[in-house]
Amino acid sequence: MEPIRIGVIGVANRGGYFVREFHQNVPDAEVVAGMDVVDGNLQRFRDIVGPDAFVTKHYRALAARPGVDAVVVASPDNFHEEQGLAVLEAGKHLLLEKPMAITVEGCDRLLQAHNRAGVVFGLGLSMRYMPMFAVMKDIIDSGEIGDVKAYWCNHFVGKGGHFYFHDWHAVRANTMGLLLQKGTHDIDIMHYLTGRFATKVSAFGSLDYYGGDKPDDLHCPHCPEKDTCPEAQLGDWEPHFQLCAFRREVDVEDNHVLIMELEDGIKAAYQECHFTPDYHRDHIVIGTKGRLCNNEQDWTVTVKTRQNHGLSDSVHTLHPTEGGHGGGDVLLCRDFIGAIRANRPLRNDPYSARMAVAVGVAAHESLRDGGKIVPVEPPAA
Ligand SMILES: NC(=O)c1ccc[n+]([C@@H]2O[C@H](COP(=O)([O-])OP(=O)(O)OC[C@H]3O[C@@H](n4cnc5c(N)ncnc54)[C@H](O)[C@@H]3O)[C@@H](O)[C@H]2O)c1
Repeated sequence: MEPIRIGVIGVANRGGYFVREFHQNVPDAEVVAGMDVVDGNLQRFRDIVGPDAFVTKHYRALAARPGVDAVVVASPDNFHEEQGLAVLEAGKHLLLEKPMAITVEGCDRLLQAHNRAGVVFGLGLSMRYMPMFAVMKDIIDSGEIGDVKAYWCNHFVGKGGHFYFHDWHAVRANTMGLLLQKGTHDIDIMHYLTGRFATKVSAFGSLDYYGGDKPDDLHCPHCPEKDTCPEAQLGDWEPHFQLCAFRREVDVEDNHVLIMELEDGIKAAYQECHFTPDYHRDHIVIGTKGRLCNNEQDWTVTVKTRQNHGLSDSVHTLHPTEGGHGGGDVLLCRDFIGAIRANRPLRNDPYSARMAVAVGVAAHESLRDGGKIVPVEPPAA
């Protein structure tokens, strides 16, 4: 059987992970083409996959390239829609990084193009593949905690400055905001575990720590405060990841509280703060018979039941899994290839990804307008 031939758009960092994973570790795939806007990234790409690989600076050339069966899009968020559309319109299978797009309308255009193309379309929502959330989903689906009525998620983004405020992520024009860019993972998990989508939201948020009055072109290695600044991004980083986190152009929020009502009246809350000292997520799900929660630090999922007055805890201990996102990234890559072979959907379907974007967009609309209640609408029929 011939391997699935893959092209990658945006070949560094996240895209670089996919290049290595598909080319070196997924037996049924090979990477044959790469697109990027930076020469050095294309050179490093060729160093990994070989000198004969096709490289280009034009995403339409990669999308249309004969001999490419499937394309991974791992460019910054504001390019996802146009590049994803080009891939679908060229009739190629698509693995599109999260968030699906930075507008709901953009997501709906991708859904429509997917309907026309009839190819496999998966998203980079790798948390759906994390063994920890698979255990939680099995427990909920078994009925052990009864009907889910409440869901609270606390997201401590301890390296928020590191990953989100020294580069393009910190500007609304590129991401729309971090409840969408970062929160789309957890909001999708909240939808996935409950099997219910949000119907309305209200949110509060502000820029409480990052941002400020430093020049937009100030780079940490050249800053007179680099030896005392707690956020200085020094060392082996490319310059575009070393912009000052306290520069003027930073206009996304770094501290958010979001409340949601999901279908069937489930009450849900999601908190995301980017300046906590530690980095993890707590997912707490309460049903009519009990509750469960995860602990990312000791790799456990704990269930407490009302029947035994909360005393009969069962604790599921997971084994730390190798690879990004608690082992989820590897499983995502394999599911993508398996879906193409079997012509079936992936676990992380585009409709759900669109609904997670719709929540993020509605949440930003709410928090930028005094916390008003914003409905979350499904796509028009
Ligand atoms: N699923 C996950 O958990 C996960 C994790 C990390 C990143 N991501 C997503 O992956 C995407 C990339 O994130 P990153 O951290 O690798 O960003 P990055 O800035 O580190 O890398 C982006 C890459 O895209 C290239 N690029 C820039 N503009 C481009 C354009 N117009 N067309 C094509 N390529 C372009 C850059 O040169 C670079 O190679 C983002 O959408 C992000 O949300 C997802």
